Amino acid sequence: MDDRSFVAAQDVILDMKKHWTTRLYPALKAEYAEKAAGSAPSSRHDVAELLQDSTTYRFFGWMERHLQRMKYSGPYGLDPYHKERSTALTGSLPDMSDDLRLELNPDFENPVYYETVDVHQHPGGVWSDAVSGFIYERGARSTTPMLGEKHRDMHGRLTDRAIRDGVPERMLDMGCGFGKSTRPFWEELRDTQVEAVDLAAPCLTLAAADAAQAQAENVRFRQMSAYETDYDDHSFDLVTSTMLLHEMPPEEIGKTFDECARVLKPGGRMVHLDFYILPDPFAEFIHYGHSRRNNEPFMVPLAEMDVRAELEARGFTNISIEPFQEAEGIDTENSPYWRFPWTIIAAERA
Ligand SMILES: C[S@@+](CC[C@H](N)C(=O)[O-])C[C@H]1O[C@@H](n2cnc3c(N)ncnc32)[C@H](O)[C@@H]1O
Repeated sequence: MDDRSFVAAQDVILDMKKHWTTRLYPALKAEYAEKAAGSAPSSRHDVAELLQDSTTYRFFGWMERHLQRMKYSGPYGLDPYHKERSTALTGSLPDMSDDLRLELNPDFENPVYYETVDVHQHPGGVWSDAVSGFIYERGARSTTPMLGEKHRDMHGRLTDRAIRDGVPERMLDMGCGFGKSTRPFWEELRDTQVEAVDLAAPCLTLAAADAAQAQAENVRFRQMSAYETDYDDHSFDLVTSTMLLHEMPPEEIGKTFDECARVLKPGGRMVHLDFYILPDPFAEFIHYGHSRRNNEPFMVPLAEMDVRAELEARGFTNISIEPFQEAEGIDTENSPYWRFPWTIIAAERA
């Protein structure tokens, strides 16, 4: 497949995704409002009943699933494009074998939940192939179609939020992926030692190569599970994660909160950015549908978890669970367009 065809096809898919976000979603919402007038839907089941014969809903659901499928696995998809170029892409990475910024564990065994689903329809997940990191990096540029080139700003906004109460001396970014969520920290906070962990060796390799290219001396990427790290007790001032919790079953989320409590210093803070607050039955219906259609099975248990109670049970204080504005000008209460239910889950270790 030539580059030009790949780029053209991906642009078409992105334009269709923008259409889905800005035209189909509002049309579906308007149809729902009309059908719900005079009744008081109280759950996603009521919404499903109202929309069960809606052609708009069927088209919306079909596009949601199949645009993502085309993006990854179609004839001009990210998967075949990058796999055809595997040797060149992996060859373009610097030799990191003696570089302290990267620590891989060839004996590492993934948790079972991680291998049982091709999360967000990425064939083989973000971990199974040497080019999985490249695929994920390219795919992440259009996960939030409305943000366009500003898609990186979201992580910068989270960084600002996370350091609002003070700059950490030492911090840990859990589930760092290819380093997109970690970069604003090591880039902005040059005096902070930034540790980052993930399960996916191909993503960690890309993250470390990026840091090496920028000659960053204050960051280290390590292959380990967020809920089972080898860090000392009370060794961090700040722990963060972005889009990690909804990719784990509830038990592992609980273990991750335990691990945060263990590694944070007393008074240290954790800030997780994820998908959680669903303000009304329509939002719930859309989010649960997204979970099904996009192979994100753990989104639903997270949405149903009483996160505040989980945190209180572990002794966290100053808990705040609030909507997160992922870009300037976004209406988090009543967005006219489709968006993820971005939520900040923050708390302090007593
Ligand atoms: C949606 S990605 C987000 C990556 C990155 N934080 C970002 O914002 O771009 C979720 C990441 O969580 C990682 N992950 C899933 N389970 C994990 C675990 N138990 N420990 C560490 N990382 C995990 C996945 O490998 C993936 O890279």
